[in-house]
Amino acid sequence: MLLGLLSLALCGLVAWIAYARMKINKMAELSEQLPGPQTIPLLGNARDLGGLNPNAQPKDFFDATMMDLAKKYGSLYRLWVGTNLFVILSDPDLIEVILSSNVQLDKGTNYKFTFPWIGDGLLTSTGTKWKKHRRIITPTFHFKILEDFVEVFNYNGKKMIEKLKEKADGQEIDIYPYVSLCALDIIAETAMGISINAQDNNEADFVKATRNMARIIVWRSFKPWLQWGWLMQLLPTGRLQRRSLAVLHALSSQVIKSRKTEFLNKQKHNAASGGAGDDNDVGAKKRRAFLDMLLEAAEDNLTLTDQELREEVDTFMFEGHDTTTSGTSFTLSSLSLHPDIQERAYEEQQAIFGDSDREATYQDLQEMKYLEKVIKETLRLFPSVPMFVRCINEDVKLGEYTLPKGCNITISPMILHRNEKYFPDPERFDPERFSSENSQRRHPYQYIPFSAGPRNCVGQKFAMLEMKATVSKVLRSFRMLPGSTTNQFPELVGELVLKNLHGMRMKLVSRK
Ligand code: HEM
Repeated sequence: MLLGLLSLALCGLVAWIAYARMKINKMAELSEQLPGPQTIPLLGNARDLGGLNPNAQPKDFFDATMMDLAKKYGSLYRLWVGTNLFVILSDPDLIEVILSSNVQLDKGTNYKFTFPWIGDGLLTSTGTKWKKHRRIITPTFHFKILEDFVEVFNYNGKKMIEKLKEKADGQEIDIYPYVSLCALDIIAETAMGISINAQDNNEADFVKATRNMARIIVWRSFKPWLQWGWLMQLLPTGRLQRRSLAVLHALSSQVIKSRKTEFLNKQKHNAASGGAGDDNDVGAKKRRAFLDMLLEAAEDNLTLTDQELREEVDTFMFEGHDTTTSGTSFTLSSLSLHPDIQERAYEEQQAIFGDSDREATYQDLQEMKYLEKVIKETLRLFPSVPMFVRCINEDVKLGEYTLPKGCNITISPMILHRNEKYFPDPERFDPERFSSENSQRRHPYQYIPFSAGPRNCVGQKFAMLEMKATVSKVLRSFRMLPGSTTNQFPELVGELVLKNLHGMRMKLVSRK
């Protein structure tokens, strides 16, 4: 019996090595022409990325990959991690070839580490499944629907301001957790149509579990031994993953269960009233949330299974709150560090609202042109998604190189946006880079915080609106003074989403 098992394991290992060699040989041949650091057999460049250090943290990979190697090897270079070839691109012309393609739509091989969490949702899926879901979900972000969401931004933003007021005595605070819980309330209510009261219930566990899962995914991308799922499950990382997933999936299950019951009751009610529906259906839930679209799609025989529904809910709960939290917090932090820019942004709020306490309307948010420039500049220096990856499904000619099928093209807004060739004096925070005059001359793939092309961010208009609404609320309520964090490089870390290792520290003083 034991002998049989051992022989089976041995055969498996031999087959895996033969497969890996075959896959690697072709890729290795083509990758030899590409610039990049020297590799060592089997491990590739894991050592350069700090992946061989058992205690390495996402920050260690981030510093090494993001800036240093790009400076050394230029706007196209390669890295091997185990049997995976990564090509890091930061040239707008080359990026355009990949992102504008209707063929190169598959996400990187390392996205598989997100599967236990968000499964095969819109962010990770491919082929016909992705096309179908994108078609169902896109109308959710139509501006007519977004207009209705402003009320939710306002209501939850107001709650955040109340909580911040307790701290507005000049003491230093980390504003990140406040923004994060507010963003969680917003995504649950707008996308899922349900109030989870994260701010009142202090859903800090969900936020913590999100951060743990993001870290695990980065670890697994760079530490070769964690790439084998069965091995990872036996290690402390596996235990952490199980604990975190339990928290994350408990909340999404609660959301789905409650909305499904409500949806079925509504259907029964409609059938009983001859299909007339009821316009007075529970105030806040009258808005057509993204989840309604999915539930209705299932009704129209577009057949979303329960599993598919759950994957989309998990995807949106993550992608829809962590990214905007990063963008909003970095914007607030940047305003605290640049008092002159904060003053101009405040003057714009004064011009729109005067001394009135009224809530912002959709139209008001459209008028916040200067604030929009501030947010765009924030996303240039601190793109919420500092890198994303496509796995190419055929050989692709890029400039003088042919990139082999199966290689992972890593596109880094972080490197691209900080290249002085495209943004002179790149470290300087200057919203005027986004005046209409200065934006006109820009290459369309030179500024890509929301990616670009057919797989761009489906939630970008929603995100801009939410960030404006939340930042506007803080600007109108407080003067922001700098705290002990500066957002300079050693503080920054990419845990799927960009963060400051020490939080977004600032001091608040009430304006009224
Ligand atoms: C500042 C805020 C945001 C930024 C910077 C951002 C950025 C991005 C980027 C760079 C991608 C491409 C990722 C990749 O190719 O792997 C993406 C995709 C996506 N984003 Fe966002 N995002 C933001 C907010 C949001 C929000 C609020 C939602 C949902 C409400 C959302 C939903 C998605 C989804 C579902 C995808 C996958 C789209 C597809 O592949 O078809 N994002 N986002």
